[in-house]
Amino acid sequence: MVAVEFRRKTKAMLEASKNQLLTQVSGDTPMGALLRRYWMPIAAVSEFESESVKAVRLMGEDLTLYRDRRGTFGLVDRRCPHRSADLSYGFVEQCGLRCNYHGWLFDHDGRCLEQPYEDVAHPEACFRDKVRIKAYPVQAQAGLLWAYLGPGPAPLIPNWEPFTWKNGFVQIVFADVPCNWFQCQENSVDPLHFEWMHMNWSTRLKDKGGPYSPRHLRLAFDEFEYGIVYRRIREGMSEEDPLWRVGRVCLWPNALFTGDHFEWRVPIDDQNTLSVTWCFNRVPKEREPYVQERIPGWRGPVFDAETGRWISSHVMNQDFVAWIGQGTITDRTREHLATSDAGIIMMRQRFLKDLEAIARGEDPKATIRDSEVNRCVSLPIAERKRLVEGMTLDEMLRHPMVAGQLSDYIFQTGQPPEVRKACAEAMGLPL
Ligand code: FES
Ligand SMILES: [Fe+2]
Repeated sequence: MVAVEFRRKTKAMLEASKNQLLTQVSGDTPMGALLRRYWMPIAAVSEFESESVKAVRLMGEDLTLYRDRRGTFGLVDRRCPHRSADLSYGFVEQCGLRCNYHGWLFDHDGRCLEQPYEDVAHPEACFRDKVRIKAYPVQAQAGLLWAYLGPGPAPLIPNWEPFTWKNGFVQIVFADVPCNWFQCQENSVDPLHFEWMHMNWSTRLKDKGGPYSPRHLRLAFDEFEYGIVYRRIREGMSEEDPLWRVGRVCLWPNALFTGDHFEWRVPIDDQNTLSVTWCFNRVPKEREPYVQERIPGWRGPVFDAETGRWISSHVMNQDFVAWIGQGTITDRTREHLATSDAGIIMMRQRFLKDLEAIARGEDPKATIRDSEVNRCVSLPIAERKRLVEGMTLDEMLRHPMVAGQLSDYIFQTGQPPEVRKACAEAMGLPL
């Protein structure tokens, strides 16, 4: 583990060519190739209870995600290879997805199973065997659907420790954020913004003059196998505090992990990011054993059409304001990095080194291929005891970080009433 505490040793800015290198995501670019070595969460499994076909865009590729009638998920090109009809308007069969224009049928491996007219009129030509559609692997894990667009053999979808936890209510939350993913992910290794963007700005948004929240006094960043840990000491905290001893995780390659939730910044294309949150709320001990029947997914708004401004009422909406405000693809030649940005410099350098690693034919950072390791991949968790052992309802109501989350989803605006109700029921609370 490499520990980095601050020294004033920062570069003023990033060259334009490096900025371009780090932010481009299409398949013919170096970072696009690197990102394709990882599974990306793209949808919630529960979305396919009511729909069977969905248009998705991922790393600049327009694709069609579907669940066929036997329950197999597939991810294929958006365009039909016959004459380019939009397959998100296709319909599913027992096996595969059928184009609604002339009925060609494709399976999840990209094989063309039927060409209704050709099969009857010219069966001897076997034209269907000569046609394939682009297809990528897709797998369900932890209520999410994950896609892999890289070279085979695919690594494993990391089975992060919280995915194995019991006695919790999980919800999956999406947002469409109109800017490049890399500046979103830089936020995952930026502890200082918490004080200003979430604490002090929230105070001012409520029209209060203050006081300001405790200041950050020390920051440290440690690279580990699955990312970078950031640690902080704020006024009134000691070195015994879990936020200094353990810290929080910038999770490779594109997530933040805080203990009770993950936030992935999934590149849609160079100009757009899908924010995907997986949030775990432990139920009170009195409610155990609790088994969640269904993991709901919902999409929250980012823009307020009435005011013409980005929404700033919730924690992650505030983050979105920062990311979008930096510009669609932020111009890093203009920046003046300070000592608080040491984690961001580490992150950029690691990606640049990993570009060299994949060019040498090696796996990039945090690639998991060993199924024994993947039985449960543990991560640094500052509030481990509370999350793993649980608390009584009374303890939860008295806990400063938990009480506010019992009846409210604090991270993003727009939680549907039915999800709020399901969560309250899980907690054993009246609505
Ligand atoms: S365009 Fe799809 S079957 Fe003809
Ligand atoms: Fe934040």
